[in-house]
Amino acid sequence: MDRSMLLKPFKSLIREKCGLSFEDSREVLLAEGIKTRLSERAVASHDAYLSLLSCEPDEFSRLLNLITVKETYFFREAVHFKILTETLIPEISSKTKNRKIRIVCAGCSTGEEPYSIAIALADAFGPDFSSMFSVVGFDIDEEALSRARAGVYAGHSFRAVPDHIRKGFFSEQENGFRINDLVRGGVEFLHLNLFGDAYPEAVRNTDIIFYRNVSIYFEPEAQKRIFRSLAEMLNEKGYLFLSSAETFVHNSGLLSLVEKEGVFLYEKGVTVQVEERRKHPDCQNRSVVAPAKQGRAGTSAARPKYAAMRTMGEAHRTFDRALALAEDKSYENALLLTERIISLQPSFMKAHMLRAGILINLQRLDEAETGCRHGMELDQWSLEGHLLLGLIARIRGDFEEARKRFNEAVYIKSSCWLAHFYLGEICRFEGDRQLACREFEIVIKLLEEKGFSDHGLTFFSLSFPMEQVIHLCRHNLAGMKRGRA
Ligand SMILES: C[S@@+](CC[C@H](N)C(=O)[O-])C[C@H]1O[C@@H](n2cnc3c(N)ncnc32)[C@H](O)[C@@H]1O
Repeated sequence: MDRSMLLKPFKSLIREKCGLSFEDSREVLLAEGIKTRLSERAVASHDAYLSLLSCEPDEFSRLLNLITVKETYFFREAVHFKILTETLIPEISSKTKNRKIRIVCAGCSTGEEPYSIAIALADAFGPDFSSMFSVVGFDIDEEALSRARAGVYAGHSFRAVPDHIRKGFFSEQENGFRINDLVRGGVEFLHLNLFGDAYPEAVRNTDIIFYRNVSIYFEPEAQKRIFRSLAEMLNEKGYLFLSSAETFVHNSGLLSLVEKEGVFLYEKGVTVQVEERRKHPDCQNRSVVAPAKQGRAGTSAARPKYAAMRTMGEAHRTFDRALALAEDKSYENALLLTERIISLQPSFMKAHMLRAGILINLQRLDEAETGCRHGMELDQWSLEGHLLLGLIARIRGDFEEARKRFNEAVYIKSSCWLAHFYLGEICRFEGDRQLACREFEIVIKLLEEKGFSDHGLTFFSLSFPMEQVIHLCRHNLAGMKRGRA
């Protein structure tokens, strides 16, 4: 039997129990882990080992310890710890008054990440930091947790640690550097499966979650489920960090993507005041992200203006490339670029709409709808947003919703021939000949007077010429006037 077939039931079991995916290049890791356990337990066949795995939780843990990726080090993406102490904590502490601020590290591996948090807190708020903060790290890997609790580390873990931190918070011993008791006592470690059904009290009502370099190992449905559970775990106005490579993938609208000091992270419960925005004529250019807070002693000044302009310039150039790729039907590449633009500049409305348009072409309607609605938080009267939502509803066969959306598009811009065209089609389909005729007549008039390009979409994937649309409308009109719908 070939390797993929042999591993298939193992992959299903692991996916079902903890959401991890072992496809493609990660298959080797799984195969090696199983081979090691077969030999250590002297089990003769894969089938026999599969039965053991299904009924012995300890054996399942042993295998997991071999196949999870535990790569981590102190102060990984150091800017996150700076934002934590200089921006998020001053902001949160003004609301939490008499209780500890709760910080959780989901997928903490051997402990470098939660200890980095504790060190940053001790460095910023003094040795008594534990009276103000609770720091909890959890992981599914028991072996990693025992190493975390021991708190002894060697060279590799220190690759991003400044000297004064190593000297101030660690003491050298025979087998490495031991973290000092003050920091060690300030972090609690728990064994917990992120893909489990219910999270315990110890990690609920959290103010800040670090969930970095973990989600990449889950299959897409598990990623969504876990992100939802983590969002539930957060207190209102709480924050969630992912690694910079993972952040944008989770921008599903569940939490709000915000920017602090040029870094993107998620915040719970930030609703964009759309009506407020509409009062401002420049609402399309205003950022949905919260302004960065002033840090302590001027350490986190607002980003210089030129940096913001450079970001905007880059976003616009990337947008042109993304549009060209979409028009070339290179949808996946175009999609990646739109995601890059949105991460650079979340208020770039046209990028949200281009992304939604591409997703419609890829038949990924749910994502297109979510993206479109997210973009429309910037401007609820976006013509393009209504057109795209109308198209999505039309493809799904939800004509009532589609009609509503196209009517709103016409309300926003009465000369939008595309909205009239689709309204004509829906009316014709529903047997409302009189209205359908009226809509098709409007389309012909608009196209003859204003031309084809005024359709209202940034990315319009239909490639037929204007004459063909006019011909189609005339054909429909003639048919309906002769009494055929
Ligand atoms: C690459 S490490 C990330 C460590 C740390 N967060 C960082 O960014 O440096 C990924 C960790 O996620 C843990 N993990 C994987 N699946 C998990 C699950 N279902 N529940 C909890 N932890 C899990 C692994 O055991 C591993 O320790």
